[in-house]
Amino acid sequence: MSLHMAVEVVRDSEISLTAQIQGFIKSEIAAGGLHAGTRLPSSRRLADDLDVSRSVVVEAYGQLVAEGYLEAVQGAGTRVVGHLAAESVVPALPGADRVPGVRWDLRPGGGGLPDFPRRDWLACYERALRSGAPSAHACPPLAGTDALRLELAQYLGRARGVRTTAERLAVVGGFAQGLGLLCGVLRRQGVGAIGVEDPGHPGQRRFLRDCGVRPLPLPVDEAGLDVTALAATDLRAVLVTPTHQYPTGVTLRDDRREQLVRWARETDGLIIEDDYDGGLWYERGRRPSALQRLAPERVVYAGTASKSLAPGLRLGWLAAPPELLDRLLRERARHDLGTETLTQLAFAELLRGGLLDRHLRRLNSRAGSRRQALVEAVRRQLPGAEVPGPAAGLHAYLRLPPHTDEEALVSGALRRSVAVRGGAACHARPRRDAPALVVGHAHLPRSGITEAVRVLAEVMSR
Ligand SMILES: Cc1ncc(COP(=O)(O)O)c(C=O)c1O
Repeated sequence: MSLHMAVEVVRDSEISLTAQIQGFIKSEIAAGGLHAGTRLPSSRRLADDLDVSRSVVVEAYGQLVAEGYLEAVQGAGTRVVGHLAAESVVPALPGADRVPGVRWDLRPGGGGLPDFPRRDWLACYERALRSGAPSAHACPPLAGTDALRLELAQYLGRARGVRTTAERLAVVGGFAQGLGLLCGVLRRQGVGAIGVEDPGHPGQRRFLRDCGVRPLPLPVDEAGLDVTALAATDLRAVLVTPTHQYPTGVTLRDDRREQLVRWARETDGLIIEDDYDGGLWYERGRRPSALQRLAPERVVYAGTASKSLAPGLRLGWLAAPPELLDRLLRERARHDLGTETLTQLAFAELLRGGLLDRHLRRLNSRAGSRRQALVEAVRRQLPGAEVPGPAAGLHAYLRLPPHTDEEALVSGALRRSVAVRGGAACHARPRRDAPALVVGHAHLPRSGITEAVRVLAEVMSR
């Protein structure tokens, strides 16, 4: 392996080259530049790079091994030893919030992800890489590659009923970036507050505040957002999850959809449609289309690959009216130069070959069977509890009997190795609805779901 290490040595110094190399490596370890486990270049390679005799490097490495800074690993060269690493300043990685010793993690996104279509993705990525097109390595257009926007326009029209064209789409780094850009544009237009669903995503409320836009909670009932409550405010923008409300799972009823669009038209308002798990639907019968189709001039439709594929891709898209799209792109130009090209091209391939559809069919079938296991276990073991909303998405809302102590249930379950998330965190205002759990079920085996519900029942019965 031809490793390189940036070592600084001064030739006409009183300090020997060996001592300089030793001193440099020691100080880099102490300062955290050389991390525990880092493999160093071979003595031959480093000597060559520094234009010194090999014996100089051999001696320096040997001394550091003797002092316990480095270790020579048979067949794997020389490495920095583990225990000398400077204290890590790297923030906790995603997933680091895993609770140690937990057997069943029912928190949404808590216990890992449903299957990623590795083979298809690899094939699509390879095709993109092999295409040899110079554009594969060029900076992408700010709105996204033409190839992906063309495929997305077709896919969104076909699968979600979105009324858009490639020209009205922008590829973004997940919904988070899209929402950040929307906040920037709204702020510049003097819009300082946005309506959000309550209960809703707690992270999104924080995110909005951090972006300088005040989230104003609006009630949600079994028909979705209470649009009458929205109309009673002077808000000019609202963020909704109409297909599968987060976290309750309910779908915005048709009359509410029409009422919401009417509100937007009458008040010059903007609706942001967060279709975060739009392709994940396994309820039999009618699958709701995107709200955006009712008023493409009033709704920004936002989609993401975070639920259907993986959040680590950081891939999302916005379908917006032309003038707003221009503003969003101008806002974006202040922050970065676009979304990584090869990932976009691979995703375009996935769409073109119908491979995303095939993946979603499999995911839906598995998630459906797991939700069914949850519903059955709840019916058998948790009388008085229910799972409202259609069979969709990667999570379910488990409404508990009215007098359940939600907090005690969450902590009691954790003591029994079952991690669950209480619904309380999703509420911005004192809650009016029943205690609940937000259950991520799509990544767990059916047996695990049944066992976890049995534990919940035991904790509740105490
Ligand atoms: C309600 C909601 N919206 C959007 C997203 C997706 O966000 P992003 O695309 O930034 O990963 C999630 C993902 O967890 C979500 O729960």
